[in-house]
Amino acid sequence: MDSDDLCYGHGTDNPLDEAFYLIYGLLGIDFADEQAAQRELNVGEEAMLEAAVKRRIDESVPTAYLVGRAWFAGHEFFCDDRALVPRSPLAELINGEFDPLLREPTGKVLDMCTGGGSIALHGLGSRVRAIQSDLFDDVDSRYDLIIANPPYVSVQEYEGLPAEFINEPSLGLISADNGLQIPLKILQDSVDYLSADGLLVMEVGYSQPQLSERLRQLPLLWLEFEQGGEGVLALTARQLQQYREQFN
Ligand SMILES: C[S@@+](CC[C@H](N)C(=O)[O-])C[C@H]1O[C@@H](n2cnc3c(N)ncnc32)[C@H](O)[C@@H]1O
Repeated sequence: MDSDDLCYGHGTDNPLDEAFYLIYGLLGIDFADEQAAQRELNVGEEAMLEAAVKRRIDESVPTAYLVGRAWFAGHEFFCDDRALVPRSPLAELINGEFDPLLREPTGKVLDMCTGGGSIALHGLGSRVRAIQSDLFDDVDSRYDLIIANPPYVSVQEYEGLPAEFINEPSLGLISADNGLQIPLKILQDSVDYLSADGLLVMEVGYSQPQLSERLRQLPLLWLEFEQGGEGVLALTARQLQQYREQFN
């Protein structure tokens, strides 16, 4: 499964891990099972794997969609092409239960642009409200933390993405205005849905330089992650109020 034409950006970063994910995932084998490599395949299993490998290579279908499962921040998720394959540096914040960003352990969190719900469905129970419809239209409360994982890919960048990404719903990736339209809308409106001491944490990924350039007068705080990833900023409700005019 080593091919230059394949992109490994949906849960693995190399062909060997990708092959394990596909084969063990489809056969329902525990990834920690050291004996599994000795297992003989029956004819039906061989045919199923061959068909899946062919779709992975010929159609660039992400392995997560072929297997129907993906892992994010230590939890397993059902996965199909109605939502993006879960992936985000925000996983590190989720694993740490948003510490130190959420002051009160009982604070309420809003997952804006929730998609498949991989952020909202994280065992945080009633603390998290998941919002997927038009930006903020359904939100009727104040939150202590808004986690936003919006689309932020420009049309131009989208057209150059590997085919694996084109197999995901474009609604989850593309944002107009050079990728900034939806992030700017979230920056503009979040303050209306945050408590006075609330915080917005938003991922804009590779659009970080464009957003920094657009808002170059603002003291944006970009978070650093131990497990890698970039393009995540944090702004307090007070800052969002103060700079609101600039998010137009
Ligand atoms: C980067 S994805 C988020 C992935 C998500 N964390 C998950 O686990 O699937 C962005 C999401 O924003 C949603 N979205 C797009 N336009 C939106 C809008 N106007 N209002 C709210 N959500 C929107 C997309 O449908 C997509 O699910």
